[in-house]
Amino acid sequence: MAPLDNKTLQTKLHIDYIKSLDTRKDDLEYWMTEHLRVNGIYWGLTALSLLDSIETLDREEVIKLLQQCQHENGGFGGYLGHDPHLIYTLSAVQVLVIYGALDSVNVDKIVEYVSGLQNEDGSFCGDQWGEIDSRFSYCAISCLSLLGRLDVIDVEKAADFVNQCKNFDGGYGSVPGAESHAAQVFCCVGALSITKRLDLVDSELLGWWLSERQLKNGGLNGRPQKLEDVCYSWWVLSSMSMIGRLHWIDKDSLIAFILGTQDLETGGFADRSGNMPDVYHTVFGLCGLSLLGYPGLQEVDPVYCMPKRVMDKLLN
Ligand code: FPP
Ligand code: ZN
Repeated sequence: MAPLDNKTLQTKLHIDYIKSLDTRKDDLEYWMTEHLRVNGIYWGLTALSLLDSIETLDREEVIKLLQQCQHENGGFGGYLGHDPHLIYTLSAVQVLVIYGALDSVNVDKIVEYVSGLQNEDGSFCGDQWGEIDSRFSYCAISCLSLLGRLDVIDVEKAADFVNQCKNFDGGYGSVPGAESHAAQVFCCVGALSITKRLDLVDSELLGWWLSERQLKNGGLNGRPQKLEDVCYSWWVLSSMSMIGRLHWIDKDSLIAFILGTQDLETGGFADRSGNMPDVYHTVFGLCGLSLLGYPGLQEVDPVYCMPKRVMDKLLN
C-alpha cells in the first residue's frame, strides 16, 4: 500500500476520525467541549456528507439527543441541560434538515423562539441575555429560511441592520462600526443572499478585500496582519462564491495549504500544519476544498454551509 501523503485527500482517515470523536468519552477534551456538542454534530455530519458517508453517525441516536436539547421556549441548547441559543438552534435545524427529520421536533416553537429574538432595529439577540451580533442575524435568517418561515420576521429591517455592519473596506463586522472580519463577512453576505439583498454588497471592493486574505503560503487569514487558518478557507471562499468572485483566489496554492493541514496519524484537519486536528477545522477544510472543486467531494452550498444536494431538494 502506498504511504499516506499530505498532497491528496485522505478520505478514509477523515471518516474514521469523525467516527472516533464520539467514542472518546474518557478524554478531557471531550468534556471540555460539551457546550459545543450540537455544533459538533452539525460539523461532523456536514463533513461526512461531503465525504458521502453520512451513515457513519447513528441517525436515531442523533435525533434523540436533539429532541432532548430542545427547550420549552423552542430554542436548542448546546447539550443536555444547557441554555438555548440561536447558534445551537441553527445547528440543530441544519442536522434535522440533512436527516429529513424536522417532524421529530416542535417546529412552530422554533419559529416562535427565533422570531422573538428580533429587535426593533432589525438586529437579533443570540439568546435571552441580549448580546447582539451579525452572526445572530445570519443564524436567525438561515434557520427560518430552512424552515420556510421567513415571513414571521421583519426581513427588510433585518437586512437593513446587516447592511449597517458594512465598513469602508467593503467588509462587515459584528455590529455597526466594528472591524471587518471574514467570518462576519460570511454571516452578513449569507444573510443578504437569503433575504435577496445582495445588491447592497459592494462586490468589487469586498472581492478585493477577500482576495487580500491570501498569504504567500497559499493559506487565508480572517483579517489583515493575522496568520493563515484553514477555517478561513470556508469563511472567505464562501463569501467570494456568493458574490461571484471565487476566481480571484489562487486555487492551487490554497488547495496545497489545506491538504497540508491533514493529520496523517489521527485523520482530521488542523488550523495549520503541525497543530492538533479538530472537527471544526475538518469541516471547513473539506468545505473549502469542495468550493475549489476538489475531485471526489460532494458539493457544498456556499450560503447555508450544507450539502448542495440537500439544499437543492429543499428549495426547489
Ligand atoms: C470566528 O470564530 C467565527 C465567526 C465569528 C462566525 C461564526 C458563524 C456562525 C456561528 C454562523 C453559523 C455558521 C455556519 C457555517 C452555518 P473565531 O472566534 O475562531 O475567530 P478568530 O479566528 O478571530 O479567533
Ligand atoms: Zn480557525
